[in-house]
Amino acid sequence: MRKWIVRGLIGLAGFIVLALVVTYAGSEMVIRKGYAAALPRIAADRTPDGIAEGARLAAALGCRGCHGPDGNGRVIVDIPGVIHVAPPALAPIVANYSDPELARLIRHGIKRGGGGAFIMPVQGHNGVADEDLARIIGWLRSLRPSAADSKDTLRFGPVGRFAVLTGGIVPEVLETTRAPAKRPADKGAYIVDTVCAGCHSLREERKAHDDGRPVPALAVIGPAYDLPALRKLLSTGVGMSNRDLGLMKQVGKDDLSHLTADEVEAVHSYLMAEATKQ
Ligand code: HEC
Ligand code: HEC
Repeated sequence: MRKWIVRGLIGLAGFIVLALVVTYAGSEMVIRKGYAAALPRIAADRTPDGIAEGARLAAALGCRGCHGPDGNGRVIVDIPGVIHVAPPALAPIVANYSDPELARLIRHGIKRGGGGAFIMPVQGHNGVADEDLARIIGWLRSLRPSAADSKDTLRFGPVGRFAVLTGGIVPEVLETTRAPAKRPADKGAYIVDTVCAGCHSLREERKAHDDGRPVPALAVIGPAYDLPALRKLLSTGVGMSNRDLGLMKQVGKDDLSHLTADEVEAVHSYLMAEATKQ
């Protein structure tokens, strides 16, 4: 009897090892899969004004929220066995990238070697105009390697690798582009389509990346907010109710507070106008 149990256990252990090997190898193929999108013809804007505006945009778009205010890298999520999300220190990596490769990474989610980037959101960044992308790259080029740089990076545990293999976690790649060359005249539409679009859609409810809570459609929730209430939400992350808005609270305070007063006003007018269309 005991012999059978031992054999059973050995069989089970063998099965687990096999499952782990298959999961590891399969997920590695997904991680290394190459994507094709033309390299955008964009060169860094290294003028002082360009770099300063690039730094502001990088804050509003969440680059500095995820990679740390000075791009030194940080850990944003750590779920043992599943995923360790450590957006890396930027200066040492961008030194190996050309300007068009950086533009492709930000706009399409494709890394230098052709593989897809995970977790880094591309939906909003995909709409960033060429001239603004040039400014963001100017800011990236102004960063210097520092002792504060983290050496940490993104890692998957066995459960995360299984999710990668089965499509539960997918690379954030968008091979098409909707970006204009210059910042459009309608600032409100542009901010919504680049900054807010990382999480919100205009007309459909989405699910939050982190905890799956509903992310309201902006043309639907927008009219509930008058301009002062929207200013408060987009600078403190506190909404009209006292409810804790989770991810929205965090990005409101850390990222969206970098929008200018004019931009917030334009977002407000745009959402009011969109709410009357349907
Ligand atoms: C939600 C968090 C998040 C945001 C927002 C974000 N990143 Fe990232 N970024 C990541 C993660 C996670 C990785 C690692 C991805 C991987 O290795 O697959 C990464 C990787 C990178 C890399 C290194 C790519 C490589 O070859 O390893 C650069 C450069 C970068 N991001 C720049 C930016 C810039 C510029 C922005 C803003 C336009 C930005 N990121 C916004 C999370 C984020
Ligand atoms: C990183 C993701 C993210 C970004 C970027 C983001 N939001 Fe949100 N937002 C959320 C989430 C998640 C919620 C839902 C919070 C909840 O109901 O708990 C939310 C909720 C809201 C709400 C409803 C708040 C309430 O009272 O229920 C408004 C209005 C809003 N966002 C406006 C914006 C605008 C405008 C922008 C762009 C300037 C923006 N958000 C950018 C994630 C985001």
